[in-house]
Amino acid sequence: MPNKINRAHTTILVIDDEESILNLVSIILSNRGYTVAKASNALTGLKLVDSLNPSLVLLDYMMPQIDGLETLKKIRAEYPDTYVIMFTGKGNEEIAVELMKAGASDYILKPFSNQNLVERLESVLKIRAVELRNRELIAEREELLYEIKAWNQELEKRIEEESEALKRAHAEVVQSQKLATLGYLAAGMAHEIRNPLNSISLFVQLIKEGLDDNEKVEYVEKILKEVDRVDATLRKLLDTAKRPRFELSEVNIETLIREALEEFLPQTIAKKIAVTFTSEGSTPMLKADPSELEQIFTNLFLNAIHEMPDGGELNVRLTNNREDMEILVRDSGRGILEENLPNIFDPFFTTKSMGTGMGLSVVLRIVKNYGGKIEVLHSDHNGTTFLVRLPRADTIPH
Ligand SMILES: Nc1ncnc2c1ncn2[C@@H]1O[C@H](COP(=O)(O)OP(=O)(O)OP(=O)(O)O)[C@@H](O)[C@H]1O
Ligand SMILES: [Mg+2]
Repeated sequence: MPNKINRAHTTILVIDDEESILNLVSIILSNRGYTVAKASNALTGLKLVDSLNPSLVLLDYMMPQIDGLETLKKIRAEYPDTYVIMFTGKGNEEIAVELMKAGASDYILKPFSNQNLVERLESVLKIRAVELRNRELIAEREELLYEIKAWNQELEKRIEEESEALKRAHAEVVQSQKLATLGYLAAGMAHEIRNPLNSISLFVQLIKEGLDDNEKVEYVEKILKEVDRVDATLRKLLDTAKRPRFELSEVNIETLIREALEEFLPQTIAKKIAVTFTSEGSTPMLKADPSELEQIFTNLFLNAIHEMPDGGELNVRLTNNREDMEILVRDSGRGILEENLPNIFDPFFTTKSMGTGMGLSVVLRIVKNYGGKIEVLHSDHNGTTFLVRLPRADTIPH
């Protein structure tokens, strides 16, 4: 029970300038089991309040030096857990109202009966116990409310993160479905189209052999060139759709990137593109099909170079972490329009008059086959950075 009073642990301080009152009250309260302290003036009284931290002060209103009212206000302001009962002389009843307003819990008229003193005092102590307990409960409730609020915020944050992750996962599923559908279609279509295309090419070559007219030879050659172009596109499509037979070996990815970059040297030199390659971290070995891996970088470099017709910079950075490898491919090209960002990995999406739009979808397929990730880290009119992440685990792609 919170309002049960443990008298031995309850200190009561009596402040009165009348020696007889001090002694009398002290005896009565000690006999009831309370711990009692005495002070014959307000100053000593205040010091004892500070050092003893009493539950209750019995305070005389009429005292020399500092009077009771002032002492009362001081105690209530500085020691809110210390309750005060005032002693007032008969005839001072109107002052009692003022004392109660100033924070006294009760007042007792002098002279008082022992019985009356104890009863009033104990009822104040009970009220005090209840009030202190209430205060504790309110503080506990506030703390709980605060915790609940923090938890709610945490939950909201987690839900937001989860739904973000879900959205991303959904987008990835849609992307793979697109690729799968495309694969199915492509395999069928390529077969159907490449056969007649082959016949067209053969017959046109026959026509060409019997021609004398130079102008017509030129037309026929144009036809053959276009046929080749269609065939090349179909082959690319098939590459995307079908997973080519691949051979896994230990690939040094640093060497692989270096060699891929070297192949572009003639182009980068001609276009005045400064190329840098840095590699940091532990051994850059990965179990993979080297020709597949190379396609990732070839396609990324091709795109980057295409965006810098008047020169620029191509920076490639390989970081070998313990669990994965990060490859940053940064160009100082024109950047990707924001509205195109969601589509660049889609098959056939291209902004180039001669593009097939297959480059990045091939890159995506390969990166995913190795359990990796690719994203546009940054893109604006000053350039674009792609980030490729490939896990180190020796898991064979499926
Ligand atoms: N580094 C880059 N800077 C700016 N835009 C880019 C970059 N890489 C890709 N893009 C944009 O993404 C589109 C799709 O790229 P993707 O490689 O898939 O196809 P493509 O380059 O257009 O055609 P293909 O690679 O088949 O010749 C490009 O047309 C281009 O708009
Ligand atoms: Mg491309």
